[in-house]
Parts: sequence; structure tokens; C-alpha cells
Amino acid sequence: MKVAPSVLSADFGNLQRDVEAICEAGCYFVHVDVMDGHFVPNLTIGPVVVSAIAACATKPLDIHLMVENNTFFVDLFAPLKPEYISFHIEEEKHPHRLIQKIRSLGIKPAIVLNPHTPPESIEYLLGDLDMVLLMSVNPGFGGQSFIQSVVPKAKKLSAMRDKLNPNCLIEVDGGVSDKNIHLLKDAGVDIVVAGSYVFNHQNKKEAIESLKV
Ligand code: DX5
Ligand code: ZN
Repeated sequence: MKVAPSVLSADFGNLQRDVEAICEAGCYFVHVDVMDGHFVPNLTIGPVVVSAIAACATKPLDIHLMVENNTFFVDLFAPLKPEYISFHIEEEKHPHRLIQKIRSLGIKPAIVLNPHTPPESIEYLLGDLDMVLLMSVNPGFGGQSFIQSVVPKAKKLSAMRDKLNPNCLIEVDGGVSDKNIHLLKDAGVDIVVAGSYVFNHQNKKEAIESLKV
């Protein structure tokens, strides 16, 4: 299992220290949560802060957009050269066009599904994606409880992925800890995002290691 700590749970007064710490502690990606106060009831960071994160991160960035105007935000973050940009299917009228746009910018495209959104909704997009992110909480805040129904959903998506695009990764985001990591592994998940579990732990390396099952 690959681990992408979410900097949403970092100490923003010591952002460089925390980003360097998770990179040294063996994270796979640095997960960056961009919220606009419209698609979700929270407002986080823009390109000024994300470029500061990019400058001190030694691992690639995985930017998770939780915004209304995806195209505007893709243009805003593309110059920072993240590895992935993911956008919510619930908020995009033309997902296929946006996938092509993200790829044309040299970035790997990913789609995010909210807890209620079935994997079948992206069946005809799966072949064009590099990653699918399944939300295991309602997007907007760190530190929420894991929604169990993501486990059968990940199993279903994993079967679709094996058939339609075996190279597409499956990522799960929200409430991930050592309590549910084995269920996610068994369901075919490749990457987990973990915010509060990693940053509230005394030892970030130990926390990350405990998720690498
Ligand atoms: C929620 C964010 C998550 C969140 C995860 O909207 O997308 O990335 O920060 O935090 P935890 O692991 O605390 O649920
Ligand atoms: Zn996220």
C-alpha cells in the first residue's frame, strides 16, 4: 500500500518542517486538498501556499480539487507540475474534456467519487484515467469517521479496473487508519490518503509504516 499524507492536517505555522518530515518518513505522494468554500463548506489553500509546499516537497504532489470551477483551478495549479490532479465527477459537466486537458498539460488525470457516487458512473471514463479517488468521508474536513460502504465500492471498482484499465490506480481518502487499512488492501486499493492519523501520531514515520500493508 502506498501512503499519501494530507497536508490539511499539518501545522501550517510549520509547513516546511511538516512537509519535509512526511517526505523523509517515506510517503509516496504529498496529498494537497484544495477547497473553494462553494463545492465544500471549507476554504483551504491556493497556488501561493501550494508552490511553497512544492518547493520543499521531495515527493510528487497529488492535488485533490474540491471546487466548483475545475478548469479554472487546473490552469491555476498546472504550472506547479503536480504528478496528479483529481477533480470531482459530481461537479464536472464535461469530465472527458477535462481529462484530456489535464493530460495535455503533462499531468496525470484522476477523478474523485463522493461517498454516494457509484463506480459505474465513470465506466466510460476509466480507460482514460490514471487514478480514481474514492472518498471515504464527505469532502471538506479532516478528522472525520471512515464510511464503511467504500469497501464494497472499492471491490467493485477494482474488478472494473482489472477489466478496463489495469494500470489505473485506486486511492481512498478520509478516516484511514491502521483499523481499516487491511480491509482497503483486500478490496484492491493501491494508495491511501491519511491526514489526522499521520499528523496526530507521535511518530510520523511509524504511522506511515503502519499503513504500508
Ligand atoms: C477531506 C480531504 C482529506 C482529509 C483526510 O475532504 O479530502 O484528504 O484531509 O483527512 P483524514 O485522514 O483526517 O480523514
Ligand atoms: Zn483529499
